[in-house]
Amino acid sequence: MLTPDPKRDRMKTDREHGLRWFVRIMKTPITVTVTGAAGQIAYSLLFRIAAGDMLGSDQPVNLRLLEIEPAMKALDGVVMELKDCAFPLVQEIAATSDPDEAFRGANWCILVGSVPRKAGMERKDLLNINGKVFIGQGQAIARSAAENVRVFVVGNPCNTNALIAMKNASGVPHDRFFAMTRLDENRAKSQLADKAGVHLSRVTNMTIWGNHSSTQYPDWTNAKIDGRPVTDFIKDADWLKGEFISTVQQRGAAIIAARGLSSAASAANAAIDTVRSLSFPTPEGDWHSVALCSDGSYGVPAEIISSFPVRTTADGKVEIVQGLPIDAFSRGKIDASVKELLEEKEAVSSIL
Ligand code: NAD
Ligand code: LMR
Repeated sequence: MLTPDPKRDRMKTDREHGLRWFVRIMKTPITVTVTGAAGQIAYSLLFRIAAGDMLGSDQPVNLRLLEIEPAMKALDGVVMELKDCAFPLVQEIAATSDPDEAFRGANWCILVGSVPRKAGMERKDLLNINGKVFIGQGQAIARSAAENVRVFVVGNPCNTNALIAMKNASGVPHDRFFAMTRLDENRAKSQLADKAGVHLSRVTNMTIWGNHSSTQYPDWTNAKIDGRPVTDFIKDADWLKGEFISTVQQRGAAIIAARGLSSAASAANAAIDTVRSLSFPTPEGDWHSVALCSDGSYGVPAEIISSFPVRTTADGKVEIVQGLPIDAFSRGKIDASVKELLEEKEAVSSIL
């Protein structure tokens, strides 16, 4: 064993530090565009992207930030704070109100910018206000983003907003569009863990089916605790079929009622989780939830953005997990949420 030698140990630390820098310099930066960049979700999200939580601690990033003109002054403040963090991974920061400028060269577009609902509203009540934003942004993404762009919609109603962006982004393949249901997945895992009295890391295979709305179905029938059915740990079937589902469905509204504002830090965290899960291989045997363009799997009609159990393969392909058993209870819940998605699609058919 070597005896401690402060000089040698300092040189070793310096060498490791230098190596880490070398790796950072060698990797090509990934360009991430975030819309709604002066809003409350972005105020958590941007700093975590910049810190490497989303794409890796050795992955440099360029940040391109989009806001509407009245919010540009507030965005200046966010940019000042990003600079004041002196994040080593951040190569460039651009702030603009021009969508083409914002999406120029983007590898990831995270579409947060849109109005949140207030107490008493359903998310789909926002469709008239927010839906049109995604026409122009879809078009600008098609014109200006990188060839390998991936688009991830957080702004509500996120499934149908993603559909609007997809249908207006002519030439961008449909498998590049996603909408966020990871917050619902995280909420569901947390509820199951509390009820079972286990740490939430033991809860896996949690699917959210359908719409990010009060019809979504958090599927406890296929979820696992320690690799076993949830019912081995939670004997209260009425709770699973009733209160568990409604708590997850209504969690966004409960947060609005308590905070007077919609979820922000947990939403940003779920956005980080989603992009990371889509960017890196999924642990063996598990999956994660994200809404994507249906290919007809599980009887969900093609060409709607619906949430599924999804895996990312070792070579980076994103696949819907096939072959899960769907009992009559689950079928009814999935169908109800899909029906709502079809109604939302019909309501915006003139802009698709
Ligand atoms: P916020 O009001 O704090 O911020 C939204 C920002 O978007 C504002 O700064 C606004 O100026 C900007 N904006 C509006 N229109 C824009 C446009 N056309 N281009 C660029 N920027 C634009 O809202 P927030 O709390 O950050 O929430 C944003 C959205 O995310 C809401 O629609 C909310 O309902 C949704 N949300 C979704 C989930 C989910 O799980 N999918 C979770 C939480 C919140
Ligand atoms: C959430 O689930 O917290 C968000 O979609 C915000 C909302 O309107 O509920």
